[in-house]
Amino acid sequence: MDGTNFRRAIARTRLAPVAAFPKRFLRVARHDARVISVSARWLLTSREHHNYTYDLTRLSREHLAWFVSVTCEVPVKQARQYLAEIERDDALRQHIEQATAASDRRGLADRKVRYARRIGWYAIVRAIRPAHIVETGVDKGLGTCVLASALLRNAADGEPGRVTSLDINPEAGYLVRAEPWAAVVDLVIGDSIASIAALDRPVDLFLHDSDHHTAHERREFQAVEPKLAPGALLLTDNVTITNVLAEHAEATGRRFLAYRETPAGHWFPGDGIGIAW
Ligand SMILES: C[S@@+](CC[C@H](N)C(=O)[O-])C[C@H]1O[C@@H](n2cnc3c(N)ncnc32)[C@H](O)[C@@H]1O
Repeated sequence: MDGTNFRRAIARTRLAPVAAFPKRFLRVARHDARVISVSARWLLTSREHHNYTYDLTRLSREHLAWFVSVTCEVPVKQARQYLAEIERDDALRQHIEQATAASDRRGLADRKVRYARRIGWYAIVRAIRPAHIVETGVDKGLGTCVLASALLRNAADGEPGRVTSLDINPEAGYLVRAEPWAAVVDLVIGDSIASIAALDRPVDLFLHDSDHHTAHERREFQAVEPKLAPGALLLTDNVTITNVLAEHAEATGRRFLAYRETPAGHWFPGDGIGIAW
């Protein structure tokens, strides 16, 4: 009996799982060793303790370009150009580096500027040219800077807009308190549900990124619904955790898609972008 026939004969017996165990063990051990090595390097080199930053893998970035292309109905070449545009924005990068180094929270922030899936937010804003964005959850203001940068480019193209950014923490948004980005940002401090209820202008693009508990996310989408302009887009940063936006899309007759990012060289499995339109 040759090797192949022997393996086939074993596969038909109750010994099969025992015979396959060393190979299976090696597979999972190699995978786990990679995760442990990336995690150890991160523990020693990064200072971040939440809201992690990283670059996307090349493949994940390419999938993001297609995600933007399909959902915003722009050619994929255009979507790729938008992603490259934010990555080449040296003024924004330098500002974030300097503001991070000067902030009270510098001990818990990395020096290198990395936007992760936020480059997709940028491309969406460049593609649909919203007059009014509402972002819930600001933290340092990294996403707000990215949104503001897209709005400034839109304004240079003759299509201006503003972002209203909502956070419950009065210290949120320190990255975005500088010109020219601050000129297109209205920072509102308070609970997002109350702040959404107080909005006095129609919303073209809404992004949930605040309290990620299912009930709060659901309340935000319900609260913003009467404030939306016709054809408004809804985004969630919580799409890998809840199905809230998909359910909201179904209940309101919209389409829904989810993009899941893959961080490059990071232990964190990544978040994503959910979109309803
Ligand atoms: C994940 S961070 C936001 C990240 C940010 N969008 C970015 O791009 O880096 C979540 C933020 O939501 C804020 N937050 C939590 N609960 C909130 C609420 N009920 N209303 C408004 N903001 C809230 C927190 O203070 C925190 O700054």
